[in-house]
Amino acid sequence: MSIGIEIIGLGKQLPAACVTNQQIAEKTDTSDEWIRTRSGIRTRYFCGDGETQTDLAAGAAANALADAGIRPEEIGMCIVATATPEYVTPATAAVVQKRLGLQEDIPAFDLNAACTGFVYGLQLSAAMLNSGTLRHPCVLLIGAERLSGVIDPAERSTYVLFGDGAAAAVIRASDAKRFFCRLGVRGDTEVLYGPTKEKQEPFLHMNGRAVFRFATETILSGIALLEQESGVQAADVDYIVCHQANQRIIEHVQKKRKLPHEKFFMNLQKYGNTSAASIPLALADMKEAGLLKPGVRLFLLGFGGGLTTGAAYMEF
Ligand code: UT7
Repeated sequence: MSIGIEIIGLGKQLPAACVTNQQIAEKTDTSDEWIRTRSGIRTRYFCGDGETQTDLAAGAAANALADAGIRPEEIGMCIVATATPEYVTPATAAVVQKRLGLQEDIPAFDLNAACTGFVYGLQLSAAMLNSGTLRHPCVLLIGAERLSGVIDPAERSTYVLFGDGAAAAVIRASDAKRFFCRLGVRGDTEVLYGPTKEKQEPFLHMNGRAVFRFATETILSGIALLEQESGVQAADVDYIVCHQANQRIIEHVQKKRKLPHEKFFMNLQKYGNTSAASIPLALADMKEAGLLKPGVRLFLLGFGGGLTTGAAYMEF
């Protein structure tokens, strides 16, 4: 078990417009029934005119600071996990630093591990918080995406799945709360990729079936690895929070491991797949629902473009 961290605040920010499956079916060749039965998704949020990925990131971060009850001066590092930054440079995290009035003597940068970004960020936060090199005691870790800008209505298998949103966590080092994390990557440019200017591809492309297989294998092996290396069994954790991509992926894992349905938190019905924002959005909703009481133990499982993988054990 590695060094401990604890999440002391969570916040989220969604675009104003909630888009139903019915509205999606007006733009692409699909139906509410297909989307619901194949993915579990009922609505998602899309940014409108004037709403940016940075706005979502900054809004979620401000809400997380308020939830933690700490001042911007107490943030020692700001990370934005994202695959859809508003600018290539400056990083979204740099703009958030200014907007929130964070100190200028902190590292602030973006991290792209696609849908696994938040889990990558947790590991990085744990390492930096325990390194003794940060000048202020907390890390602000944000997952923020505007995927509506990179999906093509002509490609219905991706257009129906993704949404925009952001969520953030305030994290500090802890002697009492244990944390364990394993990350990985496969270097794949075929199964899930884009957009890329070099190949003049403005949109995201995905081989849905291949990603589905990768996702179920990754979650199952991630759970087994966490059990082995953290010493905590899946049956004993309170919740397993998987990247929210598809209800069928999560149900497959639940059945395979013969674990109760209620152990797997799901909110993808409301938001669709929000990539790096999906796991923190789940945590923010769990906190709002009163599920993250002191002593609660979680497995977090991320998977996504890269192909990246991340499995973490954490305590509240
Ligand atoms: O964060 C990254 C994570 N991404 C994922 O986790 C995605 C993982 N994959 C999936 O969630 C599923 O593979 C999808 C939801 C993308 C697709 O579901 P599926 O059950 O694997 O469908 P399929 O690709 O095998 O396609 C079945 C049929 C095809 O028609 P035919 O060939 O059987 O006539 C597709 O053309 O469904 C058709 N189809 C659609 N029909 C209506 C594909 N997309 C749609 C659509 N609406 N949106």
